[in-house]
Amino acid sequence: MENKKTKWWQKAVIYQIYPRSFYDSNADGIGDLQGIIKKLPYLQELGIDAIWLSPVFRSPQDDNGYDISDYQDIDPIFGNLQDMDELIAEAKKRGIRIIMDLVLNHSSDEHPWFLEAKKSKDNPYHDYYVWRDGIEGSEAFPGSEASPGGYPNDLKSAFCGPAWEWVPECGQYYLHQFSVKQPDLNWENPKLRKAIYDMINWWIDRGVGGFRLDVIDLIGKDTDNCVMAEGPMLHPYIREMSSAAFQRADLVTVGEAWSATPERAFLYSNPDGSELSMVFQFEHMLLDQQPGKEKWDLAPLPFVEFKKVFTKWQQSLYQKGWNSLFLDNHDLPRAVSHFGNDEKYRVESAKMLATMIHGMQGTPYIYQGEELGMTNVRFDIEEYRDIELLNMYKERMEKGYEEQEIMRSIYTKGRDNARTPMQWDESPNAGFTAGTPWIRCNPNYTVINAQEALVDQDSVFHYYQKLIALRKQEAVLIEGWYEPVMEEDTDIFAYTRENGTDKLLVLCNFKEQPQTRTLAEEWKNGEVLISNYPDSCADGKLRPYEAMMIKVRKG
Ligand code: GLC
Ligand code: CA
Repeated sequence: MENKKTKWWQKAVIYQIYPRSFYDSNADGIGDLQGIIKKLPYLQELGIDAIWLSPVFRSPQDDNGYDISDYQDIDPIFGNLQDMDELIAEAKKRGIRIIMDLVLNHSSDEHPWFLEAKKSKDNPYHDYYVWRDGIEGSEAFPGSEASPGGYPNDLKSAFCGPAWEWVPECGQYYLHQFSVKQPDLNWENPKLRKAIYDMINWWIDRGVGGFRLDVIDLIGKDTDNCVMAEGPMLHPYIREMSSAAFQRADLVTVGEAWSATPERAFLYSNPDGSELSMVFQFEHMLLDQQPGKEKWDLAPLPFVEFKKVFTKWQQSLYQKGWNSLFLDNHDLPRAVSHFGNDEKYRVESAKMLATMIHGMQGTPYIYQGEELGMTNVRFDIEEYRDIELLNMYKERMEKGYEEQEIMRSIYTKGRDNARTPMQWDESPNAGFTAGTPWIRCNPNYTVINAQEALVDQDSVFHYYQKLIALRKQEAVLIEGWYEPVMEEDTDIFAYTRENGTDKLLVLCNFKEQPQTRTLAEEWKNGEVLISNYPDSCADGKLRPYEAMMIKVRKG
């Protein structure tokens, strides 16, 4: 965006908090809002500009808050509205904005709208959800002697099983793309849309800094034709919501869009501000699974392809949209375990991955604990909590998969890898809670924790701190053009960034083996802005997982 005014969120680094696992202030084993308030100094020290809070709204917690029963209240396990106001105000004093996580594709089945909706077809709220009659002759709903037909169509839930649930009271099926306790909202209903916009405006007036929009690519669906993502009405609805709410303030808005392509992202993140600030796209996350299968069906990461996906997004959105940059979140494995080496070179590879991401154009997101180099876990099945993972385990056991194979998928891709408590110090339960944590801690907290990281000047934490500071210093990181280097190289991820005055080379060795490459002359006298070894230089030699950013002034 060289010629246009840069927006605050284009220069920002955003930190994601998964509240139930962040910090527990009252010893009930669950992280809460007062816990976040206590840890604001830590986040300020890291240097982040905004916090994306995974949902803290009132919820039966079937999917850890992604099933909302009241959008205008805080769940008592997290606190109350006063705590929320306090968090917004305290964060503001430290220059940190709060981003709420809006789940608008579905609500909880305990939301008053749904409780009304299921009473009868004539109820005024019935049409707030997606209902269909049973179909004679289609696959039968269990116990369906009582129902007038089988499933309306073949749609499956992302959390296993059919996406339809029968409600005898009103004699219809409702759609749920996620759990049965997450009925899909009917965006075709203008009353529902209006209620949502009013709710969003109520939060804007409370002073929030923006919104993350859960699975937003699903709201414009065409159910009868089984078109769920990127449905025909998606962008019209987003534009309507944006002008009715988001555009009233200087917010950041980021949509979760598993199906996004660069062409779609031009719409979502159009610089004219008509839709959202940016989307989370997942193309780089979907590469290490067998084509056409589920995320649990593992495949090795095609590294060159991985780099090309980044190049495609970096180049196509340049001045036409805006990227979000991330390698993990609450649904994904830990970045260092997924893409780095979480054993011998944990620290080096965590810093290398951070260099690769923070050198690109877009808004970087740090998922809690990523700045400590937190790793995946290997628990017994009884110790897991995630509904997606548990449903998959059950389904695959029934289908006769080897238990070992199922567990390997869980260790590699399970969402609970990211959801173990934040590791604050070496005291019991990682200093996360004085009670019993809702999910077991990663036993490596005695070595990997924030207290250690804060005293160690070479920690992953301090490396992130430097990277965040660099983004404030070097305009080229915000506005420079991205060009891949050594694109077909199977070990090194390298690219340049360039604006009118500066040129930057980002070099990352993704392997444990040392590498030697010939660098272009222009870099020889470059300045090493940051690197993960104390004595890195631009000589083309890279030690295990070595990474650096080299800058030259154009002249
Ligand atoms: C999104 C959330 C995930 C949740 C799902 C259903 O993918 O990130 O945690 O389970 O939507 O709301
Ligand atoms: Ca608590």
